[in-house]
Amino acid sequence: MLIGVGLGPGNPQLLTLKAVETLKHSDMVYVPGRLAADLVAPYANCEILDFPMTKNSDVLNAIWKKNADIVAGHARSGTVAFGLIGDPNFFSTFSHLSRVIHEYHPDIGITTIPGISSITSFAARTKVAIDSSFEVSDGTCVRSKIILKARRPLEIVNSLADEGYDEFIFAEKLFSDEEKIIKTRENIPEKGDYFSIIYAKKRDPGRIE
Ligand SMILES: C[S@@+](CC[C@H](N)C(=O)[O-])C[C@H]1O[C@@H](n2cnc3c(N)ncnc32)[C@H](O)[C@@H]1O
Repeated sequence: MLIGVGLGPGNPQLLTLKAVETLKHSDMVYVPGRLAADLVAPYANCEILDFPMTKNSDVLNAIWKKNADIVAGHARSGTVAFGLIGDPNFFSTFSHLSRVIHEYHPDIGITTIPGISSITSFAARTKVAIDSSFEVSDGTCVRSKIILKARRPLEIVNSLADEGYDEFIFAEKLFSDEEKIIKTRENIPEKGDYFSIIYAKKRDPGRIE
């Protein structure tokens, strides 16, 4: 089992209880750099894996494959944590590592523990209250949308489909006993709870899935 553990924005007091428990109880902990290693240090020994920033795709692919093989080798027989700054599903090294592991080692189970991301850290530190729709970009095309307070999910999904979105997830009361996650459009309900989110995505025309 491989667990991507969000370590938060870099402050040792901003790890979650679940992150700390997971680091303490994992058989092996990997991190992508020194900052993450320092956050992990009070709870576990860890090994830094090198993810150099290069645009050479041959070099990159070889390094991703090498790191995936190392992590998968341990994750096959025990619990491996991979700790990283922020959140493991938000513009993260872990998402790419997961894809490569899934491709070459499909037998490895992968899960993640959310961490405080740079977006909410930014809001906290700058006293900016984000209380209306906004865009996040890393320079690539905007292809996904998140709708909060999805009380009328089916109506929202139909309207997003008219805008060209073609993949949808409806998520309600996440991490609670009543959690509901629906990934098929035909099962999206008419009514939703206040604590609900719709995620919609447009397929990348240039990408072969
Ligand atoms: C590859 S992304 C990683 C995002 C991270 N997984 C998260 O959840 O925030 C790296 C970018 O996140 C932003 N970032 C991450 N941590 C930050 C921090 N503590 N302060 C400001 N920006 C940060 C910067 O824009 C940085 O270039």
